[in-house]
Amino acid sequence: MKYLTIALAKGRVAKKTMELLTKIGITCDEVNDKDTRKLIFENEEQGLRFFLAKADDVPTYVEYGAADIGIVGKDTLLENGRKLYEVIDLNMAACRMCVCGPESARAVLDSGRLIRVASKYPNIAREYFYNTRHQTAEIIKLHGSVELAPLVGLADVIVDIVETGSTLAANGLSVLEEIVPCTARMVVNQVSMKMEQERIRKMIENLKKVLTAETDS
Ligand code: PRP
Repeated sequence: MKYLTIALAKGRVAKKTMELLTKIGITCDEVNDKDTRKLIFENEEQGLRFFLAKADDVPTYVEYGAADIGIVGKDTLLENGRKLYEVIDLNMAACRMCVCGPESARAVLDSGRLIRVASKYPNIAREYFYNTRHQTAEIIKLHGSVELAPLVGLADVIVDIVETGSTLAANGLSVLEEIVPCTARMVVNQVSMKMEQERIRKMIENLKKVLTAETDS
């Protein structure tokens, strides 16, 4: 049996995904071992291979077929715009993509004037400001701790994910506008979907059953 390869976004998504997969009889204890430096984990019996990657890289592995399946946040999918099949909303790791900043930044937003926006998600930010808001924006790409940008005068606002809102609150910032809610999704390589149709469809079906049961309860 050919191994089916599953790429998981490192961290919270990977942990929650393994909990979900356990419910459909797919297990791989090693994935959750924090001390291991191994990158690939196998469940020989079930013909499954797992690897952990940076969230941003998961869509790339799946588009090129290095992984048949990927589990990653909608935020990352929107930002990367890869050619993939998005097959299930796993309804976990929920967050919101928002425009955030100090309350005083509302004036710049409302004025429609050129606005400076810092983000780890420049494509989402550009799309939102240019095509939804029709406001000219200078988009500044950052790699982390984006909340700093309006505090030190790098940008008027940020476009970032908000989960609990505690990072914003701790830094005197607020959600000014919501762009889109995001949850973890299962994505499938377009060729794998045809070649491994039966195994993948079965997995999707089983996951949907578990997810529906969870929503109903
Ligand atoms: C993310 C995001 C926010 C924070 C939101 O950052 O960019 O900063 O989490 O979560 P909260 O609403 O629960 O506070 P992450 O922790 O990934 O770190 P980074 O900014 O260094 O990328």
